[in-house]
Amino acid sequence: MSQPSHDPSASSNVDARTVISLYHASLRYDESLALDDVSFRVDNGEFVFLVGPSGAGKSSVLRLIMMEEMPSSGEVVVGRFLSTRVRRRDIPHLRREVGVVFQDFRLLLDRSVEENVAFAQMVVGVRRSQIKKNVAQVLNWVGLYHKRKQLARTLSGGEQQRVAIARAIINRPKILLADEPTGNLDPEVSQEVIDLLFRINAAGTSVVMSTHDHLMVRQYGERIVSLDSGRLVGDVDRFRVRKSHSKRSVAERVVRTDEADAVRREVESWEHAILDSARARESSLSSDSEAGREGP
Ligand SMILES: Nc1ncnc2c1ncn2[C@@H]1O[C@H](COP(=O)(O)OP(=O)(O)O)[C@@H](O)[C@H]1O
Ligand SMILES: [Mg+2]
Repeated sequence: MSQPSHDPSASSNVDARTVISLYHASLRYDESLALDDVSFRVDNGEFVFLVGPSGAGKSSVLRLIMMEEMPSSGEVVVGRFLSTRVRRRDIPHLRREVGVVFQDFRLLLDRSVEENVAFAQMVVGVRRSQIKKNVAQVLNWVGLYHKRKQLARTLSGGEQQRVAIARAIINRPKILLADEPTGNLDPEVSQEVIDLLFRINAAGTSVVMSTHDHLMVRQYGERIVSLDSGRLVGDVDRFRVRKSHSKRSVAERVVRTDEADAVRREVESWEHAILDSARARESSLSSDSEAGREGP
């Protein structure tokens, strides 16, 4: 009997909310170990900053998630795709679910803005009439509809990155990866790009954005996964980032795992009280709303 049609899914390591999972993933390039036993998960709808100095392995993590590289050991799960079971012909399907933007934008500079965005839909076979509508809609969304006829090369860096983002999301991926998308942009323009990523995330897409700028990311109160020399050295969830945020002295130190542990202990001690009262409030609210369901 042949196997039931190939199903690259069904990992035991992942629950239904998880859209990305690295499970003891290592990545070796010839001599160098780019990633060393890295494990973390990203939930559906989550926003994650992936931080670390140059050479830490950020791009390598993102390449594993795109399945542009396969782990030398361990496993990577992206949606229903498992690195240990995926076939070459599954990869285009995976790529449809994962939009990507890069530091250097990677636009076709001699093509118009709308052509750059439309190509992403042509390669997946969307009808021309539909492409036109979708391109107009997504360009509107990133605030560049009025520049749709211009050649990409005539746009500023920030605008080019917004076109690249439009191209990355037009096929409605579940996941958006951004590899140092603000690396070539000045702070004000970087902020616009990050705001756009937040809006995309708010619309339900999981976003993983890498950056070497660990000071910049702390202000946002989102989850921060830290890498150094190919190892995961910190993972501070948004709840903790936000809590520590309200205590500046604590927020300054949320980078390394050992530091993060100290922060956790400190934060946890005063979190308990907050959590207890929140739980009490929640349970009284939910009993209210259950009672409310009876009514109109
Ligand atoms: N194609 C490659 N061949 C060999 N070594 C590589 C390759 N890509 C990355 N590396 C090495 O892997 C490590 C991690 O690189 P990378 O993931 O690009 O880090 P980051 O994006 O954080 O700067 C670095 O030591 C880098 O030199
Ligand atoms: Mg990189």
